[in-house]
Amino acid sequence: MIVTYPNIILDNVCDDVTEFGSELRQLIDDMSEIMYASNGIGLAAPQIGVSKNVILADPTGGESDNNLTIMINPKILSSSAQTEIAIEGCLSLPGIFLSISRPIHVTIEYSDIDGKICHKACSNLLARIVQHEIEHLQGIMMLNKVGQLTKKMTLKKLL
Ligand code: CO
Repeated sequence: MIVTYPNIILDNVCDDVTEFGSELRQLIDDMSEIMYASNGIGLAAPQIGVSKNVILADPTGGESDNNLTIMINPKILSSSAQTEIAIEGCLSLPGIFLSISRPIHVTIEYSDIDGKICHKACSNLLARIVQHEIEHLQGIMMLNKVGQLTKKMTLKKLL
């Protein structure tokens, strides 16, 4: 059910959601079911084959209730100068873990499930997940964020 590298769907730049109705709710239901079933902490719609700007994040991986962040048409408004390097995984790159540097704090503008514009300041793991997932919406994966040698060695392991 999860689209994995090198499927070209993952290279697409996704489209904004314009209809906030039952189809969107179904997409979000499907995404959350798949994310939790895969023990993921984040998921972008293209990872289930839908080229729409929708992301989910749950730093607890579903261990505690009501920690699911749903963002429709998310945009990064600001990023902290302060960055941190941490190991990331990706459900579309099974078994691959890479060190990625990212801003520690980001502010996101997005629509909620009813189409209302919201702003959220995200820090630490939530900020990292949200940045990773927003990149999926632009067709960018972790592999695009590491040096050529690391990418080559990683692909050797993967393919
Ligand atoms: Co990913």
